[in-house]
Amino acid sequence: MASVAFEHVGKTYPNGYRALVEFDLAIGDGELVVFVGPSGCGKSTLLRLVAGLEQPSSGHLRIGRDIVDDWTPQARNVAMVFQDYALYPTMTVRANLGFPLQMRKLPQAEIRRRVAWATELLALGDLLDRLPKQLSGGQRQRVAMGRALVREPTVFLLDEPLSNLDAQLRTQVRGEIVDLQRRTGTTMIYVTHDQVEAMTMGQRIAVLSRGHLQQSGSPQALYDTPANTFVAGFIGTPPMNLIPSVTLLRAAECAAAAGGHSGMEWLAALTADPDCHTAGIRPEHVAINRDPQAPGLPGTIVQTEYLGHETLVHFSFSGLAHGDTRAIFIARVDGSPCFENGQPASVWIDGKQLSRFDGNGNRTLGGDPDSAPLPTR
Ligand SMILES: Nc1ncnc2c1ncn2[C@@H]1O[C@H](COP(=O)(O)OP(=O)(O)O)[C@@H](O)[C@H]1O
Ligand SMILES: [Mg+2]
Repeated sequence: MASVAFEHVGKTYPNGYRALVEFDLAIGDGELVVFVGPSGCGKSTLLRLVAGLEQPSSGHLRIGRDIVDDWTPQARNVAMVFQDYALYPTMTVRANLGFPLQMRKLPQAEIRRRVAWATELLALGDLLDRLPKQLSGGQRQRVAMGRALVREPTVFLLDEPLSNLDAQLRTQVRGEIVDLQRRTGTTMIYVTHDQVEAMTMGQRIAVLSRGHLQQSGSPQALYDTPANTFVAGFIGTPPMNLIPSVTLLRAAECAAAAGGHSGMEWLAALTADPDCHTAGIRPEHVAINRDPQAPGLPGTIVQTEYLGHETLVHFSFSGLAHGDTRAIFIARVDGSPCFENGQPASVWIDGKQLSRFDGNGNRTLGGDPDSAPLPTR
């Protein structure tokens, strides 16, 4: 087992594409870190760099104390499991597990010991004599992990390993992977494009966009104090509402013109803050009142999504230019409220829960020391 550190790592592919820019992150020995970001943001490139399948164009990669930039994949002893984990179709589970060790010409007794260990660890005992085609998707996935683990890797990399499984199985195997990591204490980097998966698995999550690290932190830190508008708009279902300050100000003016009052003192401070370009508010930190004259910002309900235990209410502020979709705001309301589309209403926002972002999209209130600024490209 070993720590892994990316030190100002950049990766430019031969065609000139900059897949990673100044990537900095230290992963502790025995730590599980989840990399998450949209497709094409550079997640697989990061894993391939650790595995030694790619070399950094700039910066260094460290495993343990060693800078491994020019080490072969074999010398690193890093194991990687992919989405399309290919098991050898003509070999039994037992032979699949032992194969990487046969290739390394380990003594037969040692091979038997390690295969027995992985069998026990992953509950594969009943499956050892089966062929891959006689296994379910989840069982195949477990064999693929076992085959990687028997090598006793110093670092274990998983690249979207659950994408081929259905939702229920995904949840189960995800739990198994977290448990496995805890029991073996192997340093693990897990990659996914799914923020829900990242939130449920990660002790620590690193969010990427277009080759830049956006923020790394606990699931709660990312949720409560997103470093920038990218993270705010990526984490959470639905994500944080990002409303231009001018929109809130205009809605407040509409309330005043109608003889009402927003009742939200923080609005004055917000609009007086020249650095606050965008206000961020989670859907659960608002209340919607059917009375458009009630304290709050006036507007119209444009859509409701009933989900059983909660309803997502889409709300449009008064005073907007027609078709200004940036001002659609989603509120999370318990149960099944009686709202109709087109109905006027007012929205109350909890100012204590507000995030503020500047013109570049970076958090200006309660900043996270771990976070990097949003790239402006
Ligand atoms: N060999 C390559 N040559 C050129 N561009 C590449 C190569 N491999 C990946 N890319 C590009 O680099 C970016 C990051 O790719 P990748 O790391 O696979 O993203 P992810 O795994 O997050 O979907 C993508 O835009 C991809 O098209
Ligand atoms: Mg990928």
